[in-house]
Amino acid sequence: MCGIVAYIGPQNAYEIVIKGLQRLEYRGYDSSGVAIHNSKKVNVFKQKGKVQDLIDFAANKDTKGKLAIGHTRWATHGLPNDINAHPHQSGDKKISLVHNGIIENYAILKEELEQRGHQFESETDTEVLVHLIEEIHKNSKYDLFDAVRIALNEVIGAYAIVIINSDNPNELIAARKSSPLVVGIGEEEYFCASDATPIIEYTKNVVYLEDGEIAQISLTNGLKLKTIANQEKTPYIQELEMHLEALEKGGYDHFMLKEIYEQPQSIKDSMRGRISISKSKVALGGILDYEEKLINAKRLIFVACGTSWHAGLVGEYLLEEIARIPVEVEYASEFRYRNPIIGEDDFVIAISQSGETADTLAALKLAKERGATLMGICNVVGSSISRETDCGSYTHAGPEIGVASTKAFTAQVTILTLMAMMIGRRKGTITNKRFNRLLVEMKAIPDKLKTVLKENDLIEKIAKIYYQSTNALYLGRGINFPLALEGALKLKEISYIHAEGYPAAEMKHGPIALIDEEMPVFVIATKDSSYEKIVSNIQEVKARKGKIIAIVTQGDKEVKKIADHYIEIPKCDELLVPLLATVPLQLLSYHIALLRECNVDQPRNLAKSVTVE
Ligand code: UD1
Ligand code: GLU
Ligand code: MG
Repeated sequence: MCGIVAYIGPQNAYEIVIKGLQRLEYRGYDSSGVAIHNSKKVNVFKQKGKVQDLIDFAANKDTKGKLAIGHTRWATHGLPNDINAHPHQSGDKKISLVHNGIIENYAILKEELEQRGHQFESETDTEVLVHLIEEIHKNSKYDLFDAVRIALNEVIGAYAIVIINSDNPNELIAARKSSPLVVGIGEEEYFCASDATPIIEYTKNVVYLEDGEIAQISLTNGLKLKTIANQEKTPYIQELEMHLEALEKGGYDHFMLKEIYEQPQSIKDSMRGRISISKSKVALGGILDYEEKLINAKRLIFVACGTSWHAGLVGEYLLEEIARIPVEVEYASEFRYRNPIIGEDDFVIAISQSGETADTLAALKLAKERGATLMGICNVVGSSISRETDCGSYTHAGPEIGVASTKAFTAQVTILTLMAMMIGRRKGTITNKRFNRLLVEMKAIPDKLKTVLKENDLIEKIAKIYYQSTNALYLGRGINFPLALEGALKLKEISYIHAEGYPAAEMKHGPIALIDEEMPVFVIATKDSSYEKIVSNIQEVKARKGKIIAIVTQGDKEVKKIADHYIEIPKCDELLVPLLATVPLQLLSYHIALLRECNVDQPRNLAKSVTVE
């Protein structure tokens, strides 16, 4: 995910593009760059860091021009540095391109282009695309627009792109598939951007490009649209009616809500290129070199904090069940201070959204000193943990801005599930039949999640009944026990209600004393092997007048009869329930916090990445 801005018209293009990039910085912020057309040549400025670093860098340079493209990056391919930052250029430097998304078949294309003499400067997938366009343009009678169109037919993956050509000061070319792109139409001027925020102060007339469309935006010929299959389209001009602030959150009231709703997509992104049903295969490219060692590891140790620690606990169930490897899950802060017993046979796996969590980083350093193999599961590409580890898997969930982690958690659980399946398959601890069934079920999770999100109105109603509670209890069993912990943490951190998560059967060893008619008890009671047991636990709560809010499987009968409220989730394999059942808990916390007038995105006393001890 990243931000794209482009401008063509009479104004100072650099200023408009920079201002737009700052508006889009929420979409990515590891590096940025601009390409500005200035009398037959194009000047490119790129800089690692925030857009402000780019501004400082370009301060005394020649940024004049009336045509420019800009990009703020969230790296997927290659570290965040000056060279990998966009725009990228063709070998002859005539074509400049910014890209949001992933060119999945870049490796093959790159090999072919290298054989034809192309040389690449960066590690990005993006640079391959601009060279491919150059190759087609040079060796055919096609103009640049058609060359771009033809190149896009050879590309697999997701993209929003904008292109300028040093030979043509009057034209922008833009296209999209899966990543968003908006064209703004002003008077004798045009804009392109990933969302409308950079455009709205100049014009309210916009065209949202559809998947598979390519636009030729020309000062002399206006806006022309085609599909990449070469069919003409008529641009549908819409009038923007939105406020700036809402737009930055993609129309949602809060980043947290936006990120909760992004989960069908982010889980898909986490799985992208890593599972194949037809080949009956799971492959995590980032741990391939260590696969043998991982499969033979005597045990795995997860180190993490907060929500990532809960993902680790889900991972423990998955890996022990599917791959039969003993797993320990450690709080990074505890692990590092108690002289842990680790050695060369151990695999220490750090889980962290930001990849910068100080305690987790320190735990890794200790494990490294003792000879363990280090692996990371991080969301932010190029982060400290991803650099410190021998191998790892990025979650590819896109930037998470809300302080309370949501989509990063489900992405971590997705990776852990894939990892357990991959190892289980290799070790033979899972039958082919079960493996294949899990594959199909994994693939179906994003769609099932969309069904779960439809429960939002019901969840809001439930929140209205309980938002004034002072305490809450969360219960789950087996793989859903960590969800009880995560549900309680979400409530604590954004609504400041005291909440506890417990394994349901542990309740009778203490917390049951807390239960009275005031106490909401949230129970994950899906139809699985411990269903009967959890029904008994619910009865125990009801016998003491507690209020039960249950998450149940569609078609459930028993729990529905005894619960005060229930939220249904679609049927799925018992091991995949955490991916679905977490979401109602996230939404519950969100609505409760909102009703209590708490700052959902920036709860008091907390920070997004905890880079201090
Ligand atoms: C890589 C690409 C991915 C592309 C795929 C196609 C990157 C960042 N990812 O994904 O977009 O679809 O190839 O072949 O270019 N790493 C660590 N520690 C961590 C996380 C990652 O060391 O905590 C390392 C991995 O070992 C790997 C690299 O970073 O060398 C990229 O990781 P990942 O994106 O997970 O690898 P692939 O899935 O192969
Ligand atoms: N895949 C491209 C890169 O890594 C674009 C990423 C983005 O959308 O920011 O540079
Ligand atoms: Mg264990």
